[in-house]
Amino acid sequence: MNRVTAFMTSLAVVAVFLFSVSIHAAIEEEGERLLQLRCMKCHDLKRITDSDKDRDGWENTVRRMMSIGARVSPAEKETLINYLAREDKARP
Ligand code: HEC
Repeated sequence: MNRVTAFMTSLAVVAVFLFSVSIHAAIEEEGERLLQLRCMKCHDLKRITDSDKDRDGWENTVRRMMSIGARVSPAEKETLINYLAREDKARP
C-alpha cells in the first residue's frame, strides 16, 4: 500500500467511526426524549430503569403500555425499543 492509499484508508476508518458514534448519540438522545415525553405520565423512570429486559421483552412492555394508554407512534415505538434494549446500557 502506498502512502496516499494508507492515508485515505485511515481517513475512511475514522470517518466511519465518527459516523457510527454520532448515530449512536442521536438514537440515545431521541430515545431519552421519547421516554420523558411518552412514558413519564403514569410512572417515573425508576419503573423503567429497574427493568432489565431483552428486545422482545421491551417490545411486549411497550405494546402493553400502549394498550393501557401510552400514546406512541409506530416510529417512536421503534426508537424507544432500540433505546431501551441498547446493549451499552450502564449497569448498576
Ligand atoms: C397510561 C399510563 C402509562 C403510560 C403512558 C406508560 N405506562 Fe408503564 N405502566 C403503567 C402501569 C399502570 C404499570 C403497572 C401495571 C402493569 O405493570 O401493568 C406500568 C408498569 C410499567 C413497567 C413495569 C412492569 C413491566 O412490565 O416491567 C415498565 C417497565 C413500564 N411500565 C414501562 C413503560 C414505558 C417504556 C412506557 C412508555 C412507552 C410506559 N411504561 C408508559 C402505566 C403506564
